[in-house]
Amino acid sequence: MTAPADLSVASREEHDEAAQALFDDLIAKDSRIEPRDWMPEAYRKTLIRQISQHAHSEIIGMQPESNWITRAPSLKRKAILMAKVQDEAGHGLYLYSAAQTLGIGREEMMQQLIDGKARYSSIFNYTTPTWADMGAIGWLVDGAAICNQVPLCRASYGPYGRAMVRICKEESFHQRQGFEILLELMQGSEAQREMAQDAVNRWYWPSLMMFGPPDDQSPNSAQSMAWNIKRFSNDELRQRFVGMLVPQAEVLGVTLPDPNLAWNEERQAYDMSEIDWTEFNEVLAGRGPANAERLRRRREAHDDGAWVREAAAEYARKQAEREKAVA
Ligand SMILES: [Fe+2]
Ligand SMILES: [Fe+2]
Repeated sequence: MTAPADLSVASREEHDEAAQALFDDLIAKDSRIEPRDWMPEAYRKTLIRQISQHAHSEIIGMQPESNWITRAPSLKRKAILMAKVQDEAGHGLYLYSAAQTLGIGREEMMQQLIDGKARYSSIFNYTTPTWADMGAIGWLVDGAAICNQVPLCRASYGPYGRAMVRICKEESFHQRQGFEILLELMQGSEAQREMAQDAVNRWYWPSLMMFGPPDDQSPNSAQSMAWNIKRFSNDELRQRFVGMLVPQAEVLGVTLPDPNLAWNEERQAYDMSEIDWTEFNEVLAGRGPANAERLRRRREAHDDGAWVREAAAEYARKQAEREKAVA
């Protein structure tokens, strides 16, 4: 619903009020908002921020694992890891496309990332010193991503929700391949078991931080929930994730590195230690183990890809010219 350009201020206000009522009605019915629909500016901005951050996370998230493609212990592992990293590139591209339907250009988003102005998930600023990190990332990081993202398949904004459906299918494959890497290591030598446990120790807390700050320190959550973008609070999702991990850790034979982790019958939830948010904030502020390295690599990749963008633009130009000549 778009306001005709020649409307007076008064009738434009009237138009916006009617459009807002229609928007509110769609949200109340748990229906979908599509790119052609009128939407409040704050809703559009929130979505652009969330979807572009999500896209950047997928793209930066390729780095910690691509680091291991050449060193994967077998041809089979190499093929699986390559497919997984390639999936993450695809996720980034679906999500950039979804954000573009909200009126932001892909180049603008890319530039924000390259300039270090855009956020992406802090988790990708940790390093991957051992092969077991590939297992721990798949099991814990992709696992946390699934918990976060399955409810997003029902996000009120159509293009985002639809992108998430496809992404979640691939994320569950990622989680299983990570679990399977750890399982194989846990059934191996003492050194392999130690390597797997060490990776779980390093990734467990950062993966819990992926759900964001505690509910009482998450000011934007309530609005996102009212708009049906978010369906569960950060703490609810974190609980759900830990509940999923505990039985899987038992099958693996790994210990989750929290001495206070215990089922609380009364609350019907897990008790756990306090999360070290100072660490989270340090990484968020750019002082994590690999923040500078991740951005440097992204800039390099962007520069290396300049000729591809130029060639694609030139090809598109020639195609358009040819079509014009035929018409
Ligand atoms: Fe992904
Ligand atoms: Fe993934």
